[in-house]
Amino acid sequence: MGADSIADDWGARNRNRPWMSSPGQNGGQQHMAYNWLSKKVNSRADAVGLTPYAFAKVCGGCHPGGSIAEKDRDGKRYDVRQKAEPRLAASLDGDYHKADWVRSGVLEADCMICHMPKYDIKGRADQLGKLNYRWAATVGAGLATVEGSVAERQTPKLTYKPGAVKDGAVQVVPTRSSDENCLLCHGEAEVKKRGHVWGGRNEDPHSKIRCTACHRTSADHEITKGRSNGVFVRDDLDDPKLSCEGCHNARRMGAPKPVHKSIPASHLNAMACVVCHVRDANVAAVHTVDTTTGKSIGVFTNPAARKYGESMAWQPALFRLKNGKISIGNALLPSWWGSRVGNVIHPLTFAETGRAYETVKDHIKDDNGDGKPEANTEAEIMAMLDAIGRTMAGGRFAKLRPAYVKGHEVWEMRDGSLVHGPHPQASPLRWTFSHNVSGASRSLGAGGCSDCHGKPGGVFGTRVTVDPYGPDNKPATAPVWRYLKLKSPDPYPMQ
Ligand code: HEC
Ligand code: HEC
Ligand code: HEC
Ligand code: HEC
Ligand code: HEC
Ligand code: HEC
Ligand code: HEC
Repeated sequence: MGADSIADDWGARNRNRPWMSSPGQNGGQQHMAYNWLSKKVNSRADAVGLTPYAFAKVCGGCHPGGSIAEKDRDGKRYDVRQKAEPRLAASLDGDYHKADWVRSGVLEADCMICHMPKYDIKGRADQLGKLNYRWAATVGAGLATVEGSVAERQTPKLTYKPGAVKDGAVQVVPTRSSDENCLLCHGEAEVKKRGHVWGGRNEDPHSKIRCTACHRTSADHEITKGRSNGVFVRDDLDDPKLSCEGCHNARRMGAPKPVHKSIPASHLNAMACVVCHVRDANVAAVHTVDTTTGKSIGVFTNPAARKYGESMAWQPALFRLKNGKISIGNALLPSWWGSRVGNVIHPLTFAETGRAYETVKDHIKDDNGDGKPEANTEAEIMAMLDAIGRTMAGGRFAKLRPAYVKGHEVWEMRDGSLVHGPHPQASPLRWTFSHNVSGASRSLGAGGCSDCHGKPGGVFGTRVTVDPYGPDNKPATAPVWRYLKLKSPDPYPMQ
């Protein structure tokens, strides 16, 4: 989980992102959770960020405990240390700021999430919400009921279920992990990140292969991961052999080696396998997380969707990866507010954005009728930038330069007028698809070249969303060829 690389200057040293202090868990994920792990040493309360104490509560439901949810950055258990030094809670020490580890307990690595059938992940999250960290694993494993909540200053009371304890020992029989265990956490995350590209809601010739047959692991628990785009936790552990080519070219596990008689060879170099082989995105994901109100509001990949995970088809985004290959997946567009320091836009916290929004919320309207306000007109963007200037004056930025990162561009005031232009931090976070492969007969190209070339429904006839809401209240789109930087609207028009 990247915990052993955490350091206050990690982001400054590694990614030119000085607010980040780790490669994983809290910070890698841009455009979505402007909740970054607090620094150990802080000089102001409003710059503390997401403390491990708050992380355990909000994120611990899926980030399964251990590491920063158990021990502080000196390697000491939080509850033991805080018992000896109760005044830490009032300090600006990022590990203890406003925390009460003594009463909540710590969140140890919870083995049973993966090693028993029917683990109660909701029961666990419910305990975390009450700050009952010490009790969460017991409830998750279904061994006991717990009444009371540390958050409400109560002392939780634990009652074991009949048969849960025998001869002084808790009765649990660990099993091997099944796909259901993995999906307790990966199922839902997919909804936001990529659109449920695994988990049996779409067809897949691999669906009889278990997660752990491809993502192998042993007692070291370094679960094999590939290099799929958009995830950055411990990239040094990525295994290039976990890939379509890694199995199909080497005939691993009996994988058929494709011949591709009907596909021009140039295309196999130009495109990732999933462009043709993943035809289904049937679970509504989120293509923008808008933080303007100080809360995270999702804009769905299918505009008709009303909640994450609804069964609803959508068009995967096409994009070019850093290695030049064309690929597909979910492209998360930015919509967040910050302050420019040199060339880098430092994000505001949800709380900071929310404070500014409160002062101008009557001017920021729901123009596109989706029930959610958005800053899309020039007047709305200017009102919000101005509000940030007022509410954060004299705050944590030595020189405050409010900026809005939205849809491939950064918007800011220069010499009294609103200007906008491209910026590296405004490019979408591109989560590639790697599961939900369609059978060969449904792949793009199986219906001939015209699956992509020469007709309106083909790949070259579609458009890519580049901005969740333009000034006309509609999403701004670009034709595929221009977005992919091809020379012509269709390289093989087939007339
Ligand atoms: C308790 C929730 C949970 C369960 C259960 C779980 N995971 Fe994860 N998994 C995570 C989280 C959270 C991360 C990201 C780690 C981080 O951010 O530090 C992750 C990371 C991964 C990654 C690497 C992703 C990357 O960023 O490269 C793979 C692969 C993976 N898990 C596979 C599995 C498999 C296979 C199983 C079942 C044996 C499983 N996971 C069970 C929560 C879970
Ligand atoms: C994110 C899921 C996950 C969590 C959490 C987890 N494990 Fe595992 N563990 C696995 C997987 C996957 C394997 C590989 C064997 C399998 O497929 O079950 C494994 C293997 C093992 C093995 C080796 C089993 C064998 O026969 O080779 C042991 C022992 C083990 N885990 C103990 C633990 C303990 C103790 C904890 C808690 C500290 C824990 N595990 C937490 C997923 C997990
Ligand atoms: C047929 C093999 C296969 C199966 C089965 C499989 N995966 Fe994957 N998984 C992959 C490949 C290949 C990638 C992409 C690797 C890349 O693009 O570099 C991937 C990517 C991922 C990632 C993104 C991080 C990474 O490793 O790049 C996660 C997380 C993940 N899989 C979890 C799961 C879970 C959970 C299951 C079971 C529900 C599962 N996978 C089943 C092959 C598989
Ligand atoms: C519903 C389960 C769930 C919850 C709740 C959750 N996460 Fe995650 N998170 C995951 C899974 C699963 C992964 C890894 C899967 C993948 O790579 O697709 C992950 C990965 C991440 C990553 C790694 C991204 C990268 O750079 O590779 C970060 C950062 C992260 N989560 C932050 C958070 C924060 C902060 C919270 C709380 C505000 C949170 N998560 C709550 C399931 C969850
Ligand atoms: C761990 C090895 C492994 C990985 C990784 C893997 N495959 Fe497969 N794949 C297989 C095996 C084995 C089969 C045959 C399954 C069967 O026939 O039951 C298969 C079947 C297929 C088929 C069906 C062929 C047909 O006859 O219809 C397609 C298409 C396919 N894979 C594409 C992909 C793509 C695309 C990727 C990457 C996203 C991928 N595979 C990753 C092992 C793998
Ligand atoms: C431009 C589209 C396209 C790309 C890119 C592509 N495929 Fe295919 N693939 C197809 C089509 C169409 C078929 C079925 C007809 C054929 O063989 O030409 C197919 C067939 C297959 C089959 C079934 C082979 C068999 O003999 O049953 C497998 C497996 C497969 N592809 C894997 C891959 C892998 C792995 C990659 C990436 C290295 C990839 N494909 C890239 C379009 C594509
Ligand atoms: C999956 C969609 C897809 C299918 C199917 C497809 N193409 Fe293409 N084709 C593309 C893309 C994307 C490019 C642009 C690649 C680039 O420039 O990197 C392209 C480029 C071309 C080009 C110009 C550059 C080159 O690679 O030679 C020709 C000619 C072409 N395709 C012919 C064909 C023919 C003939 C077929 C059917 C046998 C076909 N294509 C099937 C997507 C497709």
